[in-house]
Amino acid sequence: NRKIYAALLGAGTVGSGVYKLAGMQEEDICLKTGAHLEIKKILVRNPGKVREGIPQELFTDSWQEILEDPEIQIVIEVMGGIEPARTYVEEAMKAGKQVVTANKDLLAEYGDPLFEIATENKCDLQFEAAVAGAIPIIRPLRQSLAGSQLTEIMGIVNGTTNYILTKMSEEGMDYQEALDMATRLGYAEADPTADVEGYDAGRKIAIMASIAFSSRVTFPQVYTEGITKITAEDIRYAKEFGYVIKLLGITKLTGKGIEVKVHPTLIPDSHPLATVRDSFNAVFVHGQACDDAMFMGRGAGQMPTASAVLGDVIDVMRNIIHGSCGKIGSDSHKKLPVLDVED
Ligand code: NDP
Ligand code: HSE
Repeated sequence: NRKIYAALLGAGTVGSGVYKLAGMQEEDICLKTGAHLEIKKILVRNPGKVREGIPQELFTDSWQEILEDPEIQIVIEVMGGIEPARTYVEEAMKAGKQVVTANKDLLAEYGDPLFEIATENKCDLQFEAAVAGAIPIIRPLRQSLAGSQLTEIMGIVNGTTNYILTKMSEEGMDYQEALDMATRLGYAEADPTADVEGYDAGRKIAIMASIAFSSRVTFPQVYTEGITKITAEDIRYAKEFGYVIKLLGITKLTGKGIEVKVHPTLIPDSHPLATVRDSFNAVFVHGQACDDAMFMGRGAGQMPTASAVLGDVIDVMRNIIHGSCGKIGSDSHKKLPVLDVED
């Protein structure tokens, strides 16, 4: 069978999960694509560090080594942050490599120019893992639900804060202890401020709004309010009156433009979103023809995220084999205004 070589950028929570899962699924990947997947190089900051289950000779701290290797056809960016991830993703596509990324920071701010580069270079730039971990939501928004005029998306799209709120509410756990646990479990961002201040959820809702409303919404346009001011007392009062507090990302298409925001919300405990616990996420979509659709699953963590990344890699491998890379490029889009939340 043919062999397709990939490089991982990052071997942290997600990167080491992708390496592990690619090994576990080796035969299955071959059955699904007709090719073997081999991770040839892994870019990290510290190549001397021993990482369980990954051969030491795979690690490098040289991006050029990966960029200039003509055998490497797929770059899997799971290092996070804007720079140098943005430069590497751009350079990879300009060199004709296909890219899979889990990086919502990058896409919520620089999605537009990156998709243009993907189109110009007929490259795949796939990012299912960037929103809601293992839950398939990017493809449904782009493809399965595209026949309906979508008007609203609402959901729990950050696993860390949902875990914290669940632990505080159900076990009386202290905020800091719950955040520390979420970090140990691999749910939190490298800087968990992004989780608890609602920035991570804001990036995800910006990406979804852009796709759903064929427009461009960037993270700085999103109103964000996190969970740092929620106290144990707030949670207790909410419970007493039959509510739970959840951090929701909400976007709506209105006659005036796009509304997009993230904030803690009181949800009646009979509502389906109230049952979404721990690191689970859930996304509700409403469209004129499709009516309501709901997606739920693990929104963070090593293996759920690795599963979404590997799903994209498998899709890219099929595209390489069938010569159909670049089908996910930039769509043309409307220039709808993003409204101030007060509007
Ligand atoms: P980690 O912080 O655990 O891992 C980051 C990895 O990238 C490390 O191996 C690090 O190397 C490497 N790295 C970082 N900066 C550089 C650099 N400048 N040069 C070379 N290597 C670098 O992050 P995660 O695995 O948790 O997250 C990765 C990405 O996936 C992020 O974009 C995140 O938002 C996204 N994501 C994460 C999810 C999760 O549940 N954790 C879920 C969905 C998406 P070293 O080890 O040497 O420091
Ligand atoms: N830190 C993110 C979360 C990871 O907790 O949801 C998944 O995107």
